[in-house]
Parts: sequence; structure tokens; C-alpha cells
Amino acid sequence: MKILGLVASPRRAGNSELLVKEMLASLPADNQKEMIRLTDLNIKMCKACYACLPAGKKCNIEDDLDFLLDRIRAADALIIASPCYFLGPHTSIKTIGDRLISVMGDSHEFNGKKCVTVVTYGINSWEGYAREAVNNFARFLHLDVVGDLLVHAAIPGEALDEDIKTAAHELVKRLIAPPGGDKSSSGGLTCADCDSSLLQISASGHVRCVMCGTTGQLQCESGQFSIHYTNKILPRFSPEGMTEHGRTLESYKERYISKRRELAQLCKPYSDYDWWVYPNNQQ
Ligand SMILES: Cc1cc2nc3c(=O)[nH]c(=O)nc-3n(C[C@H](O)[C@H](O)[C@H](O)COP(=O)(O)O)c2cc1C
Repeated sequence: MKILGLVASPRRAGNSELLVKEMLASLPADNQKEMIRLTDLNIKMCKACYACLPAGKKCNIEDDLDFLLDRIRAADALIIASPCYFLGPHTSIKTIGDRLISVMGDSHEFNGKKCVTVVTYGINSWEGYAREAVNNFARFLHLDVVGDLLVHAAIPGEALDEDIKTAAHELVKRLIAPPGGDKSSSGGLTCADCDSSLLQISASGHVRCVMCGTTGQLQCESGQFSIHYTNKILPRFSPEGMTEHGRTLESYKERYISKRRELAQLCKPYSDYDWWVYPNNQQ
């Protein structure tokens, strides 16, 4: 199998890089191994031009996104590792993630590739939403997230603790395991569909996963809480859910095209408000 490790940390020999290397090195030698440091790529921000819609059209920004997507297409399975920065993932995850509208309908190309994710964070209980953001980045790439690891390690090298390495070895084995293997989460009450721990709970006990929209009802029996999931929506990260989302975006583009003159009239007076300021070198 060809296993691709994506490292979303600018830190050379940092914890994310070390863990990806540790995981790849622990796999049998007959697997092909490749790594890409996302922060080394030239990836520009999405311009929100929607030129990549409808499905089948490509993003027209010229940078390294195609290189990255081609390497992912060529891989059989992936490891994605990111440090937690300001309670979220590294910016490269968000910047690349924002460019994925162009592959929203391409599940046939990526689907079925297993992926495990690793998030390193330095301060106890400051992991924020980084795990969920990295997992959903993988899901927006149509990857099948079969497990993840949150690693408390601040200084480069601290992730090479024996217990962490053992957990990383166990996790990466899931990439080469036969289909239908263990997908168990880190525990606690998480979303039944996407395993996110970011659940909104109303005073009446209604539960909504803020990541995938799955809903349910909080229940308590003998002092033990559980969630009874009542969701009837199409799973957001399934091929059908992604295709539906792509169609929704296409309908927004059509609505924009049909209303743009009317909207331009509404917006026109605001172009006179010119309060922008720029750095000296951009004037
Ligand atoms: C800009 C910046 C922001 C950070 N924000 C957080 C944070 O919000 N929570 C946390 O636990 N650690 C935070 N950290 C610590 C890193 O997550 C931690 O050092 C991690 O091991 C870095 O992984 P790396 O060596 O792969 O880059 C931050 C580090 C930097 C440089």
C-alpha cells in the first residue's frame, strides 16, 4: 500500500512530523511511504469566486493544490497530523480545506481511502476544536477517518514518549487492517455519525452535533448519560451528503447569477464608503 503522511506544522522535527515518521516507520517495509509538509506548499486562499462550480470544473488558482490532490489520489491511505494553534488546527488545514469546494463532487476519486489523524497540543485542556477540524478536513477530502489521536506534547520531541508511540503504532495499524476494523473513538459522549465531541445541548436535552448536524436526545439512566440519536438527515460526510452540498452551492451560484443586477443596485451606494486602509507599500 502507498501511505501518505501530511504534516501541517511548520516546525522542522516538531511533534507532528516526528509522530508521522514514527507511524510510517512502524509499518511493514513493503508499504510505500511518502510525506508532504503542507506549510511548504504554495496554497493560496479561496477567492469565493465559485469558478470551480458546477461539479467537474477545476479551481482556477494556480498553485500547489493540484500537486497535493494528485498525491492524495495516488495514495491508498493517509495520516494527517497538525498541531493545535489557538484552540484550532494549523492554518494550512483551514486554507487548504477552504479550497476543497472544487473536489466536493469527486468522492469516486478519493472515497474508501482510510485516514488517521493526529493532533498535538501543548497545554493541558487547551486542545479546543483542533481534533474535530482536522477530522473534518479529512472528511471533506472524502477520506474515511478510522481513528485519531490527541497528543499532549509541547516541546519538540516530547511526543516521543513510549506510551504515545505505542498508541500511534496501534492507530496506524488501522490503515492496513482489512475493511471493517476498529473505529472506536477516544470515549465520552460523541456524535454517533462523525464522532465529534462538539455537541450543543439545549436545556430540554436536545443534542445537535455542530459539525455534521446529527441530532438526538440526552438521556439519563441510573446516573449514566447517553444520547438517543434521532437523526433523519443525510449524513453530511457521506458521498451522497457531499454531492447534495455541492448541488446546494451550485444553486447559490445560479441564484447569484439570476439576481446579480438587482443585488448590484442594492450594493452600489456602499462602494462610496471608502474607509479602507492599507500598509504603506500597497498604496
Ligand atoms: C502559534 C501557536 C499557537 C498554539 N496554540 C496552542 C493552543 O491553543 N493550545 C495548545 O494546547 N497548544 C498550543 N500551542 C502549542 C502546540 O500545539 C504544541 O507545541 C505542539 O506540540 C506543536 O506541534 P509541532 O511541534 O508539530 O508544531 C501553540 C503553539 C503555537 C506556535
